[in-house]
Amino acid sequence: MGLRVAVIGSGPAGIYTAEALVKQSPEPVEVDVLERLPTPYGLVRYGVAPDHTSIKSIANYLRRVLELPQVRFLGGVTLGEHVSAAELLGAYDAVVYATGAMVDRRLGIPGEDLPGSVAATDFVNWYCGHPDVEPSRFALDSPEVAVIGVGNVAVDVVRILAKTAEELAATDVPHDVLERLGRSRVEVVHMVGRRGPQHAKFTLKELRELGELANADVRVRPEEAVVLGGDYPRQVRGNLDVLRSWAQRAAAGRPRRLDVRFWLRPVEILGTERVEGLRLERTRLTPEGRVEGTGEFETLPVGMVLRSVGYQSVPLPGVPFSQETMTVPNEAGRVREREYVAGWLKRGPTGVIGTNKSDAAETVRTLLSDLAGREPARRAGLDELLARRGVRPVTYEEWLAIEAAEAELAKSLGRGERVKLTGLEAMLRACRPGP
Ligand SMILES: Cc1cc2nc3c(=O)[nH]c(=O)nc-3n(C[C@H](O)[C@H](O)[C@H](O)COP(=O)(O)OP(=O)(O)OC[C@H]3O[C@@H](n4cnc5c(N)ncnc54)[C@H](O)[C@@H]3O)c2cc1C
Ligand SMILES: NC(=O)c1ccc[n+]([C@@H]2O[C@H](COP(=O)([O-])OP(=O)(O)OC[C@H]3O[C@@H](n4cnc5c(N)ncnc54)[C@H](OP(=O)(O)O)[C@@H]3O)[C@@H](O)[C@H]2O)c1
Repeated sequence: MGLRVAVIGSGPAGIYTAEALVKQSPEPVEVDVLERLPTPYGLVRYGVAPDHTSIKSIANYLRRVLELPQVRFLGGVTLGEHVSAAELLGAYDAVVYATGAMVDRRLGIPGEDLPGSVAATDFVNWYCGHPDVEPSRFALDSPEVAVIGVGNVAVDVVRILAKTAEELAATDVPHDVLERLGRSRVEVVHMVGRRGPQHAKFTLKELRELGELANADVRVRPEEAVVLGGDYPRQVRGNLDVLRSWAQRAAAGRPRRLDVRFWLRPVEILGTERVEGLRLERTRLTPEGRVEGTGEFETLPVGMVLRSVGYQSVPLPGVPFSQETMTVPNEAGRVREREYVAGWLKRGPTGVIGTNKSDAAETVRTLLSDLAGREPARRAGLDELLARRGVRPVTYEEWLAIEAAEAELAKSLGRGERVKLTGLEAMLRACRPGP
């Protein structure tokens, strides 16, 4: 009897885990990849920006793993709702949790819950067509918007706000979302860092793209781009050079403006019924390298605040979770007997797609060494259990039918290779046409 493993989550971490199991296992292995959505690839489908088509094409690598004869995709199956961790342990020799980080970190300032104060997780889900967010969710009716945070997600969000609908027409952005982007009244986008340019988390390639936008001028205040001394890594030096060059650039009169700001921390989101402004306090570094407020304040007249300050994992029922690190505590991927973890749920929400490959390989090494020489066990089947509960998993072939419907939709709209279907119902209709 071969090894049977359930992987929970079909993002990069889950799929690289399945691949590593097939590659590394000395004995025959069967891997079931369970995913709460009808569609695989996690943030590659619902996170990576739609205009970054070459990164999105990583899905073509991931699909080859799901097509391996040892691997099975079961979409529409949620751990904690359709099946419990204990039931999975009854059905498989081991379980690997790879459910990522799907909610936003909080700022903890007054006004954070006002209408118009939006988590980047929701905004990204919106333009990526995630079924959790309705296409009608955002109207973009404010001329000024603030994006808090200077990481790569903030850069993605800013770029999507700055581009025209025409520039995004060939992407897979859902059609209703594209139409809303076309009606956007946004003229100025402020991207706000609470520390200096040398501390920004965005990477050079992503930053440079902001300077090449056809529809927006980028502005940096010379006094905020000054960085004294310091022996910075190459990546940081590159960022600083780009920001300094922008500080000297004259505006070209493009329709939109992007203001990249530093040394400003959010203290309050203002407004009564909805967001009317963002109050910021200027900051400086203490001799110990901490950031402190200077007591000098500034208010941006924005009608929308996008909080892009990082993602966060959520606890899975019956699975250990540290409220301190907001991850599943583990040793080289081992959580406890026969339970393992990979990806953002294991390490926290940082790192590019490729980071999850070596991370998953480590988890699989631990798993295989723990399970080597185990007593073969006859285990209950998951399929019967799901059938008894009336859960019919979306198969890989059904997912291909959803993909085909998205390609068909793009063709009928005269757009690019595909246009996302939104809503679970539309996806299920596409793969299970009824009478
Ligand atoms: C907005 C954004 C843009 C990014 N862009 C890039 C980029 O351009 N380039 C790059 O290299 N990296 C990018 N990254 C980083 C990259 O996406 C992550 O490193 C990677 O996706 C993490 O993989 P993961 O599998 O751990 O999580 P995820 O990709 O989030 O996958 C987790 C999967 O688990 C599923 N799931 C969750 N809960 C359950 C449950 N209870 N039961 C069953 N299934 C469940 C989810 O639906 C999801 O499919 C981006 C990240 C974000 C947030
Ligand atoms: N193209 C790509 O390769 C790409 C695209 C998107 C995402 N990703 C990756 O995905 C990961 C997640 O990206 P991310 O942008 O969500 O996270 P991130 O890189 O951790 O950036 C978070 C930003 O939020 C700021 N922040 C945190 N708490 C704050 C607070 N209370 N007030 C104000 N600012 C606050 C941080 O500032 P401090 O530094 O001061 O804490 C930082 O600027 C990263 O590894 C990223 O590289 C990659």
